[in-house]
Amino acid sequence: MDKLILASRNKHKIQEMSEILSDLDIQVLSTADFPELEEVVEDQPTLDGNALKKARYVFQATGIPALSDDTGLEVEELDGAPGVYSARYAGENASYQDNVLKLLAELEQVENRKAQFRTVVALVTPTGEHLFHGICKGQIITEQRGDKGFGYDPVFLPDGFDKTFAELTAEVKNEISHRGRAVQKFIQYLKAD
Ligand code: IMP
Repeated sequence: MDKLILASRNKHKIQEMSEILSDLDIQVLSTADFPELEEVVEDQPTLDGNALKKARYVFQATGIPALSDDTGLEVEELDGAPGVYSARYAGENASYQDNVLKLLAELEQVENRKAQFRTVVALVTPTGEHLFHGICKGQIITEQRGDKGFGYDPVFLPDGFDKTFAELTAEVKNEISHRGRAVQKFIQYLKAD
């Protein structure tokens, strides 16, 4: 494989995935390099389904191997919500801030703050489809801390750290994150091929 398209329109995800893939001898493109591509509606009931839908569309439209990411935040006390609905937890077109504030409100007075990010990375190539999974466990804190990262990062404290994802450097986040772990599995798969 000499070329790969990141099948995402989220510039934060593209930035993180590009950094993790930067040591590979592969040209990493993204959907931003193909303005004719349409936006994929994430209407599947699972992360696997949405990740595959995005990568299949981009591969079929370009003929270039495509790698997508679908991620959810799963909060134990909320029975795994917001999960696959993490992007629109506070409603269609909700901002990151709207979603974080809704989460903090739902967890007000709640003692069990355990949560995990789960990422599914889907690879679609001329020879087939593969899924790679990554989980990062932690806690939802009661107020926002830090200005790095995106999404729920300011309220997520990964296990073993006293800084939120929004306080950690991009290097450290990529090393321990759900996305970092899933993309590392993809890299291992490429190396074993
Ligand atoms: P999706 O994978 O584009 O459906 O993303 C779901 C939502 O999860 C995003 O809109 C973000 O709010 C959140 N999210 C995804 N990845 C991360 C992350 O690495 N940190 C914090 N929030 C994230």
